[in-house]
Amino acid sequence: MSLFNVYPLFDITPVRAKDIYVYDQNNVEYLDLYGGHAVISIGHSHPKYVKAISDQVEKLGFYSNSIQNPLQVDLANKLVTLSSCKNYQLFLCNSGAEANENALKLASFHNGKKKVIAFKNGFHGRTSAAVAATDNPKIIAPINAQQEVEILRLGDLDTLEKALAKNDVCAVIIECIQGVGGLDESTTKFYQGLENLCRKYSACFIADEVQSGFGRTGDFFAFQKHNITPDIISMAKGMGNGFPVGGILIHSNIKPSYGLLGTTFGGNHLACVASSIVLGVIKEENLMQNVKDISAYFMDKAKGISKIKQVKGRGLMLGLEFDFPVAELRKKLIFNHYIFTGSAKNPNVLRILPPFTIQKKHIDVFFEALEKELKMRK
Ligand SMILES: Cc1ncc(COP(=O)(O)O)c(C=O)c1O
Repeated sequence: MSLFNVYPLFDITPVRAKDIYVYDQNNVEYLDLYGGHAVISIGHSHPKYVKAISDQVEKLGFYSNSIQNPLQVDLANKLVTLSSCKNYQLFLCNSGAEANENALKLASFHNGKKKVIAFKNGFHGRTSAAVAATDNPKIIAPINAQQEVEILRLGDLDTLEKALAKNDVCAVIIECIQGVGGLDESTTKFYQGLENLCRKYSACFIADEVQSGFGRTGDFFAFQKHNITPDIISMAKGMGNGFPVGGILIHSNIKPSYGLLGTTFGGNHLACVASSIVLGVIKEENLMQNVKDISAYFMDKAKGISKIKQVKGRGLMLGLEFDFPVAELRKKLIFNHYIFTGSAKNPNVLRILPPFTIQKKHIDVFFEALEKELKMRK
């Protein structure tokens, strides 16, 4: 049987990984500045992570959500401490799309409305409502297109108010820093205005932190820089350091009832242990501070390269913008220098999404390789 061919693949086969490095079957070492698409947070195969998951699978790998699972409560408690998000409840699922799907559904249950507002270049996943709220017609099938979604320009409060004033909007969903779209971020004035307008017109404010959350920007959540309080916060990617786990934080003004949301695998024992260990290591190794320090070092080095038009993003969620498409450069970094980086919807942006354990010496290796390749382009 062949695989359903939906991914253009690089001809590389990783077989093991350690911290910032990935190794293929010939033992070639790759520097991972892509983090498996912003997923690896505490580094590949962190010893505490490997031990905790191994120990748990020996004891109990899975049981359903119909029994007590203290590991979920433990994860919720750790999340409050590290994120400082106090008045929230936790619902666990398995991926970013599922987190957003549950967030949108919950918003609609909560206020009884059904239209969604999202933003240009936003990406929220590939399931029903999540993909309908994604600004990419190519991945929206007719079955998804029946959702009522209005896509607005990022930063435009007047248009947002006009759309909300019809009083039919259940949720406004937004990535504080756009990931797939190319690292754009609006102003504090816009995010605060958005929050106020959501309150005024009784729409839920959903912060999609699937990519930017769990410490990637140096703050626990990217929205925290803007001093705002979303009604629902969606999370995934870095949450499990590769173990599939997602979740939503739900403000206490949204009340639960039996059966409102549900899942078979969400919040399973292994996922909870994986995510709790991620939080533990972020705290013990002071990784959010490392994210900030290395980010500052990266920005400084980038200033010395005139061909970089702009460095976008924050923390270790960064994009280097050039005035040419970066697809070839990305290939050269992989095949000539063994460095993984990421692409974006904006073809001129090279994305940098490494594990939070990265050090200055790794950034030096990247810039040396980048400079060599940029010189060759002349
Ligand atoms: C901001 C954002 N939301 C949602 C998703 C979807 O997450 P998943 O691929 O885990 O479904 C992604 C994935 O890239 C994302 O970047």
